[in-house]
Amino acid sequence: MCGIVGYIGDKQAQDVLISGLSRLEYRGYDSAGIATIEDDALRVEKKKGRLVNLENILEKTPLSGKVGIGHTRWATHGVPSDLNAHPHASVNREIAVVHNGIIENYMPLKEELKSQGHIFVSDTDTEVIAHLLNALYTGDIVETVQIAMGKMKGSYALGILCANEPDKIVAVRKDSPLIVGLGNGENFIASDIPAILNYTREVYLLDNGEIAVLTKDNIQVLNIAGEIIDKEIFVVDWDPGAAEKEGYDHFMMKEMVEQPKAMMEALMGRCCESSISFTGLKLNEEMMKQINRIQIVACGTAYHAGMVGKYYFEKFARISVEAEVASEYRYKNPIVDKNTLLIVISQSGETADTLAAIRLAKDRGAWVLAVTNVVGSSIAREADDVIYTNAGPEIAVASTKAYVTQVGCMMLLASYLGKLNGKLGKADAARICHSLMMTPGLIDKALETQEVIKAFADKNHKIYDLFYMGRGLDLYTCMEGSLKLKEISYIHSEAYAAGELKHGPIALIEEGTIVVAMCTQENVFEKMLSNIKEVKARGAHVLAIVQEGHEDIASEVDEVWVIPNMDDDITPIPAVVYLQLLAYYLAVARGCDVDKPKNLAKSVTVE
Ligand code: G6P
Repeated sequence: MCGIVGYIGDKQAQDVLISGLSRLEYRGYDSAGIATIEDDALRVEKKKGRLVNLENILEKTPLSGKVGIGHTRWATHGVPSDLNAHPHASVNREIAVVHNGIIENYMPLKEELKSQGHIFVSDTDTEVIAHLLNALYTGDIVETVQIAMGKMKGSYALGILCANEPDKIVAVRKDSPLIVGLGNGENFIASDIPAILNYTREVYLLDNGEIAVLTKDNIQVLNIAGEIIDKEIFVVDWDPGAAEKEGYDHFMMKEMVEQPKAMMEALMGRCCESSISFTGLKLNEEMMKQINRIQIVACGTAYHAGMVGKYYFEKFARISVEAEVASEYRYKNPIVDKNTLLIVISQSGETADTLAAIRLAKDRGAWVLAVTNVVGSSIAREADDVIYTNAGPEIAVASTKAYVTQVGCMMLLASYLGKLNGKLGKADAARICHSLMMTPGLIDKALETQEVIKAFADKNHKIYDLFYMGRGLDLYTCMEGSLKLKEISYIHSEAYAAGELKHGPIALIEEGTIVVAMCTQENVFEKMLSNIKEVKARGAHVLAIVQEGHEDIASEVDEVWVIPNMDDDITPIPAVVYLQLLAYYLAVARGCDVDKPKNLAKSVTVE
């Protein structure tokens, strides 16, 4: 989704902005632009499409200047076009704005500004901000921004330049993330850490309603009343290389390969010597006694981790759990009160619907525990308790290492709560711990089978749909595999509870339709065999994925991938890797842009 970067210092701003924007490409976007100030004049260049289109123009006609703002836009109000791209400037070319979020009252504001003679050239809500600031300008851009904040409704992270005050950038945050990077003789703003990680690791995480005023040598953070705030410096511990491809063709491949390490980081200090603990978790035995309802809320891939989590909570802690997508939860007047534990899962920590669910539940007194990958993210800060997944930065839109660590944390948390409420015995806790510690090695084994998976993908990449079926934990692995496939290869796909196929989807099975039958759960293995026979009878080409010991399934299916023998409870972690690789190689064989799939965004900050 939209990305922001801003620079003030001694370097040519254009270079820093383009480098920052290139590190935000993974968020998903459809146009890009920058604005700089030189000789007290505002210069703007913006272009529809990939960043390279903008770079080609800037190569011929560079924008000079040592202060600037840049943006990658993911269209909401108005189609992707040069005119709708950010930055947006006021007609008198004094003020330029980049914006993430949505100005909800932009229509009445636009009408009012039009009646005052302002002429609009784009369809965006953001252009209204540039005109509004222009109309309200008092000669002091900071004061003007404060006044404008009283008039704008909605969510915004803003980077603002004013040609009359060329020695500063003003940045504002309301319900859309924004950070300020502290440099030496230079300062930065960004919507995401990777944009400025090459220049600094010291940042201020702006809170809602805060305004940052950056000059080359100074940063002041003010609240909406204009009072100076003493901000704590947050030191990012990510290695800059972590956000680079490091020789891999795609971030997605690099991140799949990093999964064993990510799992180790997620387990470290939490799963040791057969016992599970969470340092820093406030939720304790006493509080758990008051909890009579647990809800898990998330979006996309994180929701699949939530469904696996629900299975674990019910199995290990014998607690009934509801799992729901955030965009449904928040609009249905959920039953949530002070005796509810709401667990939210989010790799980015910024998903708008998940954040809204947190606010709703907190308003009603629930205890909110976030499971997220991004330290200092909005979700981490607004929740009462946080478990970090520690997967390291994930850049590819298709989530892989974040997912396996989310599932790992769900298993740990469920076992931990089972221990607190006495439902999980010591022996089972030790078994879970031991099994989890095997997952890095099991993922390595999955990664070693790449050639087989690639060969399958190369042979079958022309398919137009693919079905997945499984039972129990395998169902959630199938759902995640199917989502991965849709996201990056654009192949239509369904994931179904194997027993449900006969209630509808089986009508879609034809001669040659590929069905991936995930059969890792011993207790339903025989049932899966029956379901395989049903689809085979209708002409399906079946690929079965089984644990060692079930190789003889080969006589029933067209192809078998045998995965190492493991505790059935941990299969969602290694097994999903086979499906990630399948989606990846199918997408590559079809020539798709794996890391930047069309229409999708890494961090979904709109509702
Ligand atoms: C987007 C991403 C998905 C992610 C979902 C939820 O759609 O492309 O990979 O699963 O948002 O994001 P979150 O950051 O809350 O996990």
